[in-house]
Amino acid sequence: MSVLILPPLHFLLSPFLVLLFLVTLVCNVLLRRMQSGHRRLPPGSMGWPYIGETLSLYTQNPNTFFSKRQMRYGKIFKSHILGCPSVMISSPEITKIILVTQSHLFKPTYPSTKEKLIGPQAVFFHQGSYHSHLKKLIQSSFLPSAIKDQVRNIENIVPGLLATWERMDSINTLHEMKKYSYEVAMISVFGNNVEGKEIEGLKHLYHCIEKGYNSMPLNLPGTPFNKALKARKLLNERLKKIMQKRGESGEYGGGLLGVFLGLNGKDQLSDSQIADNIIGVIFAAHDTTASVLTWLLKYLHDHPLLLDAVKNEQEEIRRERLVTRRGITWDDTRRMPITARVIQETLRTASILSFLFREAVEDVEIEGYIIPRGWKVLPLFRTIHYSSDFFPDPNKFDPSRFEVAPRPNTYMPFGSGAHSCPGNELAKLEMFILIHHLTTSFRWEVIGEDNGIQYVPFPVPKQGLPIKVHRIREV
Ligand code: HEM
Repeated sequence: MSVLILPPLHFLLSPFLVLLFLVTLVCNVLLRRMQSGHRRLPPGSMGWPYIGETLSLYTQNPNTFFSKRQMRYGKIFKSHILGCPSVMISSPEITKIILVTQSHLFKPTYPSTKEKLIGPQAVFFHQGSYHSHLKKLIQSSFLPSAIKDQVRNIENIVPGLLATWERMDSINTLHEMKKYSYEVAMISVFGNNVEGKEIEGLKHLYHCIEKGYNSMPLNLPGTPFNKALKARKLLNERLKKIMQKRGESGEYGGGLLGVFLGLNGKDQLSDSQIADNIIGVIFAAHDTTASVLTWLLKYLHDHPLLLDAVKNEQEEIRRERLVTRRGITWDDTRRMPITARVIQETLRTASILSFLFREAVEDVEIEGYIIPRGWKVLPLFRTIHYSSDFFPDPNKFDPSRFEVAPRPNTYMPFGSGAHSCPGNELAKLEMFILIHHLTTSFRWEVIGEDNGIQYVPFPVPKQGLPIKVHRIREV
């Protein structure tokens, strides 16, 4: 048995020892500073071992989580969430470095289960030449010059959809917007070549995948994730059949699929590369646009004066349409400045993609801090969009703020840099067309008083914003 012998107290308190202790402490701090040199991690807390700060993130409003830390540590700080050491960024200048000027040092990163469901060869998951090849193809299919021709097809979806709304006591806005954005996405990727029956078959499989995507990734018989994996396999087969059919007919058909199938030589893509990207684009186009459309209806409803201004703008276009007996045109959608600013402000206020995930591919030094290789890096779009430095009175829904262009790198609802959204013009076009018909031929009221938010996974008004729609005249 060992005996602990304590030194006498007067020895412990001797001035010599206190001095020795202080000198050792100072030397230690200096030595550590010298060793780390410029390799200083950003300030912040890594939380508890293993779980880090994940619980804090999930038990409070994520915006509060980020803004509290930004106030305490500044515009770049470290944390540990979802099992990963992470650096969070709320500075426009540093965001630009990560997404634009040094983007090759920060690769996009997604959980492998999500990659499996969408398809590992989809554009989002890649960097370098494969990514830029795909990106050019996708971008060219969604440029204004390409989507101009789709205005009529998109507009054709609207009367049928609105007619079902007025027949119901109430509708779940989010669900209905999802139907709309799904139909638009299908037109964009397939053109008008796939007959109804085939589209219906794809819809069921796609919804199964979507359910699994937003569930626990538990691959056990009967779980949504397991069903989604099976549906993903079947969807691949269906898509291959459609590709075969188009190939045999000698016509590649319209939409993004037509563009992919028409490639020759070294540009050609394999069937599975095509399938992963078709599914990827539908995924990217669907929930995002539906969530923003849901917010758009809520904000217009909550701001009657703005709604009147939008109605007046749209009425004028309607009058012209009726005189010339035509549907809405691309040029009409360029003459909606008030509606355009309401959409811009909706995108800022809703900030449905609150942040992105990137991963440092090597140790990177930014503003004197080191971001170690393998760490996640999160540009915090929502925090930037809600900064009063860039958007005065940020909690106010005020479309007039966009009468002046925002400062560079402060407004990024569609991302920035190499991975920025190729579908932004299509998403806005969908909104213009729906808002035109909804505000000129219908009225809507929100049912219930709940102003809450739910995450599905994007932030949306609680219960998908139940509304009652009344027709005031024919579309
Ligand atoms: C309001 C609706 C939408 C919002 C808010 C939105 C937002 C975004 C954002 C922030 C990114 C960047 C992701 C990153 O950097 O990691 C992105 C990428 C992407 N979006 Fe959208 N998006 C919307 C609609 C659409 C639509 C309609 C399409 C259809 C073409 C689309 C297709 C894509 C694709 C393919 C990417 C990946 C690009 C790449 O990795 O290079 N999005 N979107």
